[in-house]
Amino acid sequence: MSLNDTMHLLRAWLRDPRSVGALAPSGPALARLMTAHVDHAHGPVIELGPGTGVFTRALLERGLPGHRLVLVETDPVLASTLAQRYRHARVLRMDAARLGRSSSLFGDERASAVISGLPLLSIPADKVAAIIEGVFERQLQQGGALYQFTYGLRCPVPRALRQRLGLEAERIGGAWLNLPPAWVWRIRRP
Ligand SMILES: C[S@@+](CC[C@H](N)C(=O)[O-])C[C@H]1O[C@@H](n2cnc3c(N)ncnc32)[C@H](O)[C@@H]1O
Repeated sequence: MSLNDTMHLLRAWLRDPRSVGALAPSGPALARLMTAHVDHAHGPVIELGPGTGVFTRALLERGLPGHRLVLVETDPVLASTLAQRYRHARVLRMDAARLGRSSSLFGDERASAVISGLPLLSIPADKVAAIIEGVFERQLQQGGALYQFTYGLRCPVPRALRQRLGLEAERIGGAWLNLPPAWVWRIRRP
């Protein structure tokens, strides 16, 4: 994690603390855990709330071609930095809650995985519902999964919402050395 990236995220946090939700980018162990199960042979990938691009880098290092990746980031400064850094990926300066209003971001194809760094615990419940619904109803292919980290012990997608959408959640690991420690959840529709 570079000092430059920490400053980038810190400035974004000062602009909008609730939406950024963290003072420093995630560490490499969490990035590995978040991306370990993504198989790019199965389809393109969407990343929500990439921030400075810690998970983006891990996805590309795992062999995902840049043109098979869409980054959805609401902060305008972070979005333009990402666009300069990851020239082959498509960067959308957009609220992830709008995912359900557009058709698939990949045209006829749907994503095999959605990697989310969104601070779901500090996002209002109706917006969380719009994001999760958009992901599962419009963007993910059947059998695809949403990977979401959280600093809390419970699944950050509320149980009632999971039940309404028929989703199953499984905690797939923890990154104890991350600051703060974080857990990763895989959410799928069986
Ligand atoms: C906790 S930071 C995580 C950044 C990075 N993924 C990491 O782990 O270091 C949350 C990011 O989500 C973005 N974000 C928050 N709400 C969003 C939304 N509704 N749509 C898109 N991006 C959002 C913030 O601007 C910020 O970049």
